[in-house]
Amino acid sequence: MATLRSLMLEGRRILITGAASGIGRAAAELFAGYGAKLLLIDRDEKVADVASGITGAQAAILDITDAAAFNDALNAFGTLDGAFNNAGIEGMEGRMVPITAYPDDEFRRVLQVNTQGLWHCLKAELMMMQNAGRGAIVNTASVMGWLGAPGLAAYSASKHAVVGLTRSAALEAAPQSVRINAVLPGAVATPMLTERGFKANPEFAEGAAKAHPMGRIAQPEEVAEAAAWLLSDKASFVTGQCLAVDGGLSAQ
Ligand SMILES: NC(=O)c1ccc[n+]([C@@H]2O[C@H](COP(=O)([O-])OP(=O)(O)OC[C@H]3O[C@@H](n4cnc5c(N)ncnc54)[C@H](O)[C@@H]3O)[C@@H](O)[C@H]2O)c1
Repeated sequence: MATLRSLMLEGRRILITGAASGIGRAAAELFAGYGAKLLLIDRDEKVADVASGITGAQAAILDITDAAAFNDALNAFGTLDGAFNNAGIEGMEGRMVPITAYPDDEFRRVLQVNTQGLWHCLKAELMMMQNAGRGAIVNTASVMGWLGAPGLAAYSASKHAVVGLTRSAALEAAPQSVRINAVLPGAVATPMLTERGFKANPEFAEGAAKAHPMGRIAQPEEVAEAAAWLLSDKASFVTGQCLAVDGGLSAQ
């Protein structure tokens, strides 16, 4: 059984955005363990350190809102079997701010990264994969892509858009056997939450574990496992789906 699991992504060429930290970093380590050859992308230069710890992994330091830089990195990587479009920001350094007080520039920035940045990546990946007639893509949305949240309207809007992009792209690319799905995490113990969100909103830190029916928040590896499965042939007839990894939060 251990052998079968270790072969899940054997030889697959997969890119991960947001790989310097949190869920993306956990995915890099996990996918490499499952045999994938990785291109790790982040605007934070720490992504080079993550890549240097993984045999054969390449790093590209770039901002996903820069479509030309992303395309160059993708073309240099060559063929692509899988993509985990995971980079994202929460906005306001994690502070929850009502719409009436939320700066317009910050609303634009959140959508520019989480929606338009992912759009650029998705577009380039689809061109490559549809031409090849194979491939799988996983986008990181959030349970906030299904639910509203006071103080997080920009983030929630940007993640609802990721859900729409995922479903539409899946329908467009299904005839070429390219699968596109999304993971929708609940609260996950990453710097986004533990170093920013919880510090900016101590009351949220107290309630986060209890808000999830399983009584705790997720570890980043638990989200990465769901993405690995969706990228693998084990999910060969799964496309256009949103997989919540939220300890039951969205089932309520
Ligand atoms: N942590 C949570 O509770 C949670 C819950 C639901 C969804 N998510 C989503 O998971 C994804 C990963 O978040 P995380 O929790 O690991 O956060 P994180 O802040 O630990 O990691 C995010 C990574 O993305 C990178 N990044 C941000 N903007 C970028 C850009 N424009 N170009 C390139 N790289 C960029 C950052 O440098 C960072 O390394 C995000 O899309 C986030 O919205 C997180």
